[in-house]
Amino acid sequence: MNQSESGTDASSLSRAASGGGAAPAPASDEPPIIAVDGLIKRFGDQVVLDGVDLSVNPGETLVVMGGSGSGKSTLLRLIIGSLVPDAGDVRLFGRSICHMDEEALNEVRKRFGILFQSGALFNSMTLAENVALPLQEHTTLDHSTIDIMVTIKLELVGLREHADKYPAQISGGMKKRAGLARALALDPQILFYDEPSAGLDPVTSAQIDQLIADLTNKLGVTSVVVTHEMDSAFRIADRMIMLDRGRVLMIDERQRFERLRDHPGDRLSELDDASKLIRQFLRGDAEGPITQRKSSTGYAEDLLGRPVTDRTEGPAVEATRVA
Ligand SMILES: Nc1ncnc2c1ncn2[C@@H]1O[C@H](COP(=O)(O)OP(=O)(O)OP(=O)(O)O)[C@@H](O)[C@H]1O
Ligand SMILES: [Mg+2]
Repeated sequence: MNQSESGTDASSLSRAASGGGAAPAPASDEPPIIAVDGLIKRFGDQVVLDGVDLSVNPGETLVVMGGSGSGKSTLLRLIIGSLVPDAGDVRLFGRSICHMDEEALNEVRKRFGILFQSGALFNSMTLAENVALPLQEHTTLDHSTIDIMVTIKLELVGLREHADKYPAQISGGMKKRAGLARALALDPQILFYDEPSAGLDPVTSAQIDQLIADLTNKLGVTSVVVTHEMDSAFRIADRMIMLDRGRVLMIDERQRFERLRDHPGDRLSELDDASKLIRQFLRGDAEGPITQRKSSTGYAEDLLGRPVTDRTEGPAVEATRVA
């Protein structure tokens, strides 16, 4: 079912909330719901994204990984149209968003939800009011229908009994879930998450993962999830993408990343530089190419704020792009 055609149909939502309806399997013959081609983004002299290509199939969960500052959040902001690229293109639902006017972009925005790290709830509103807000702003539904929709969304994230609480009265994990309920308000086809489990205890983090998986399975939502939590990444991903210095080091099925993570330490010579770097990242090892690269950044360079020519470079890693 095309959810945009169903609009904000409360009956379809309640079916989904009660677990009915199978998710459409990611089908390779369907056009990608997100397509990013040759994306370049600079801030001043800094090239933050340097030719990123990726595509996401309907109904799949893509996990975005990479070190701090590798450009993950910037990539998300470009995909949702809150930043404009210096070059390249972003297509959502088959249409380029990079040169859309604000009105057209707002129509596209109704079809995806965003959960940023903070949850970004309005503190002066109850959870129910927070979730109702997008429905009041973007639909012509009457109050009682909106109330039903809000109840369904809060039930989906396990917060129905806390509908009348204010954000200050709930825990961090509950705020995340409330943010998710609000992101779900308009029945989006795509959900973007920026570090949904950061700062949460392992059990709450696992609950958020379960929710993300349920949304995929019950509602057929396509998800793009930026996360540093490796357990979480491997629990939810269909495919994974690893960014490094603004470039795609690898994009592939979760299983390929699992094999790299589990590659024996006494057979490292079998791996190329990119694979070694990804392996270290996935395992969180203290030793490896990432650490060597960091320690090769000289103190003199840090003091001068510019590269010092005779320093030893960290291992040069060539990006391997897999379509
Ligand atoms: N609006 C901006 N103006 C200038 N520089 C920016 C801006 N947004 C991001 N950057 C820079 O771009 C680089 C990538 O930032 P980004 O937030 O995308 O990283 P990230 O991979 O999400 O990191 P983290 O894991 O720490 O969240 C950083 O060096 C950051 O300082
Ligand atoms: Mg970030």
